[in-house]
Order: sequence, then C-alpha cells, then structure tokens
Amino acid sequence: MHIKALLTFLSAANSISALPPLAPRAEDARDVNPFLGKNYFANSYYAGELNQTVSAFLAKNDSLNAARTRTVQNTGTFVWITSVAGLSNIKTTIDAARTEQQRTRKQQIVQLVLYDLPDRDCSGGQSGGEFSSVNDGLNLYKKTFVDPYAAALKAAWDLTSPSSWSQIVWETSSRTRTYLSAQTPPQPAAEFAKVVSLAQNLTMGGAQIRGFSTDVSNFNPYIADPRANYTEYSNAYDELHYAEVLAPHLANNSLPAHFIIDQGRSGLQNTRATWGEWCNVEAGFGTPPTTDTNSTVVDSIVWAKPGGESDGACGPTIDGVGAPNAGLWWEAYVEELVKNADPPITPTYATLRK
Ligand SMILES: *[C@@H]1O[C@H](CO)[C@@H](O)[C@H](O)[C@H]1NC(C)=O
Ligand SMILES: *[C@@H]1O[C@H](CO)[C@@H](O)[C@H](O)[C@H]1NC(C)=O
Ligand SMILES: *[C@@H]1O[C@H](CO)[C@@H](O)[C@H](O)[C@H]1NC(C)=O
Ligand SMILES: *[C@@H]1O[C@H](CO)[C@@H](O)[C@H](O)[C@H]1NC(C)=O
Ligand SMILES: *[C@@H]1O[C@H](CO)[C@@H](O)[C@H](O)[C@H]1NC(C)=O
Ligand SMILES: *[C@@H]1O[C@H](CO)[C@@H](O)[C@H](O)[C@H]1NC(C)=O
Repeated sequence: MHIKALLTFLSAANSISALPPLAPRAEDARDVNPFLGKNYFANSYYAGELNQTVSAFLAKNDSLNAARTRTVQNTGTFVWITSVAGLSNIKTTIDAARTEQQRTRKQQIVQLVLYDLPDRDCSGGQSGGEFSSVNDGLNLYKKTFVDPYAAALKAAWDLTSPSSWSQIVWETSSRTRTYLSAQTPPQPAAEFAKVVSLAQNLTMGGAQIRGFSTDVSNFNPYIADPRANYTEYSNAYDELHYAEVLAPHLANNSLPAHFIIDQGRSGLQNTRATWGEWCNVEAGFGTPPTTDTNSTVVDSIVWAKPGGESDGACGPTIDGVGAPNAGLWWEAYVEELVKNADPPITPTYATLRK
C-alpha cells in the first residue's frame, strides 16, 4: 500500500487560549471550523530563519522585498516536529503563543506537524528519519515520540477550548496525494476509513478527526489558472477540485469532509514539466492562510511547509547553485518565493515586533 506518512498530524486544529474557553455549542462541536476567528500563530523559529532574508534584501537595497519578507515572518506557519529531540519545540511554541495571546487578546491557533514515522520518506537517507521499521521503529516511534507528543499537548489542556481540542487532522504526504489523485476517489476514501476505524478501535472510540490536509509541501494551486496540460486526465486538477471531488466519497465512508490546504509554495503556477515534480520546484508564496476559502469543505488555506527549507539536494539550480540537503535553509530559494509570490505579499515597513 502506498499510503505511507498518513498519520501525520494533529493540531492544525488545536487552538490554545488563555481566555476562558468558549462553551461548546449545543450542536455538534465537531462541525465548527476551528480556524474561525483565530490568529494563525507565526512560528518564531521560522521568523528567525527569515531574518537573513530581510538582511539579504536590504544589502541589495531591495527594501520592498525586505518588507514583504517581514510580512512572511508574521504569517502563521506550521512547526514541524520531526524528531524526539524536537519534541521540546511544542512547549516552546505553546508558551510563545500564550504570550502573544495575552499581548493581543486574540485567540491563537498553533499548528504542528507530527512527522517522524518509521521509514517516513521512501527516498531514505537524511529525510528518512530516525526510526527504521526493521529496528523496532514502530514501537520506538509510539513510545518515544507519539506518547510524549500527546503528553505535551495534554499539558496545554488548561488553555484549550474543548470544542476544538479533540479535532485531529490527518495528512497524506505530498507524494501520496499525487498517487491518490491518479486514482478514482473511492479508493483513498476507503483506505482512510480503514485507518480511522483502526484508530477508533485502539482508543475505544476516543479518536476523532476533523478532516484532511492536502498539498503539504507540494506546489499545486488552489485554483488553477490556467489549468496545466498534464492534468488533462483528471477532474481533480487543482486543490479545490480535489477536495470537492473527494468530499462525497469521504462522506459515504462516514468520514468528515473537511480540508486544510497548503498553499505555502503554490503561488507561481505552471513551472513544472510533469505533475510529479516535487523537489524545490521554482515557486512563489501562495495565498496566505485564510478561512475565506469559498468552499464549504475547505476549513482553511494554510502554509504548512516553511518555504526556504530545502526538499533535498535535488531539483533546479539558482544561479548555477543547487539545493542543499533536506531541511537545510536555501536562502536564494526563499528570495525567489518572496519575489514570485502570487498574490504579491503586502509589505510590512514597521519594525518587526518579535
Ligand atoms: C530576528 O530579527 C528581529 C528584529 O531585528 C529580532 O528581534 C529577533 O531576535 C531576530 N531573531 C533571530 C532568531 O535572530
Ligand atoms: C545601496 O544604496 C546606497 C545608498 O544609496 C549606495 O551607497 C549603495 O551602493 C547601494 N548598494 C547596492 C548594493 O546597490
Ligand atoms: C474495529 O472494530 C470493529 C468492531 O469490532 C470491526 O468491525 C472493525 O473491523 C475494526 N476495524 C479495524 C480497522 O480493525
Ligand atoms: C498547454 O499546451 C499548449 C499547446 O502546446 C500550450 O500552448 C499551452 O501554453 C500549454 N498550457 C500550459 C498551462 O502550459
Ligand atoms: C454515496 O452514496 C450514495 C447512496 O448509496 C450514492 O447514491 C452516491 O452515488 C454515493 N456518492 C459517491 C460519490 O460515491
Ligand atoms: C474567494 O473569493 C473571493 C471573491 O472572488 C476572492 O477574493 C478570494 O481570493 C477567494 N479565496 C480564495 C482562497 O481563492
């Protein structure tokens, strides 16, 4: 089965709040879009990485793109929890969000990606992660990663609105998504249903999911304009159509038909020769996080992949220089993301408050 890296995360849907939690409404609280009315908390680690981008633009006297980069620093992105050592970032992030909430009196939504599955990337090597299935990896993953992850989130329960706490978002990896989209939709929906049923059995009915994420770390536009030629065979030719096409099949499998869709690097369209290109594709920042999605099945556009962190030592070169290894910062690439952004990023000229 090619559905690997499913499992990924929760917490897109976890809001933390120092204000008294809103009482869950009488109707099914699970049906409330958890993003509504909240501020997408900006990941301060990523904002720090972008300081060098601000400096680089300023050194080139490009004050407009420096100011656009400041806006990116204040845009909510996901914090990737990719190793046991990285688990401490959960508390750091939640503490920082709490402070921000007290400062602004605005509820924050903290977005985390859980990404440490055994053999998590079939390309292996550096991005393959720290657990190997041939080495008791699944067990170690559960005991040393998932359990402490859950405990770290539980520690924020006092601050958490119960109506949104239990909502979990599952991710399919970007390459899985490409695989899935080539299939007729009933097949992935049935596979998801099996996974959710298993989770419910393991937790004695306690598992709940809010929906699915798509396009994570990938480059597909929300609305294709124009539609790419390589999508000719598919009625799910952009992310909005994919969500709308998949939704009724999910519903028929008793699964919730809600989506969050990564547009972090989907701003520049039609730079790929084939749909399968996934590595450091020439790109721009896309539509910023919003609940204004024009679709009842899409909860939010999000920025999941921190643009500028390399997909691997592959893909195109910039000025003759290739990409660094997976996860490493590629300064030239993020400068292109800023310049190629669509819609163009509104500049922030005021001093950054972080
Ligand atoms: C980034 O720059 C801001 C503003 O100069 C500063 O407050 C912040 O500490 C810097 N972050 C890092 C990680 O260097
Ligand atoms: C930036 O502008 C300053 C002042 O106008 C000028 O002295 C400097 O040479 C410029 N630097 C670049 C890289 O263009
Ligand atoms: C979960 O339990 C139900 C009831 O026992 C069973 O029918 C179903 O097959 C189980 N699901 C999985 C994925 O094992
Ligand atoms: C699709 O192919 C046609 C014919 O080759 C070409 O003119 C057009 O630009 C292509 N569209 C895109 C979005 O690349
Ligand atoms: C969902 O199930 C209904 C009732 O069985 C059926 O009429 C409908 O075609 C199904 N929809 C999809 C998308 O499979
Ligand atoms: C939703 O529609 C409005 C009005 O056409 C448009 O301004 C907005 O960009 C759309 N949202 C997205 C995420 O495309």
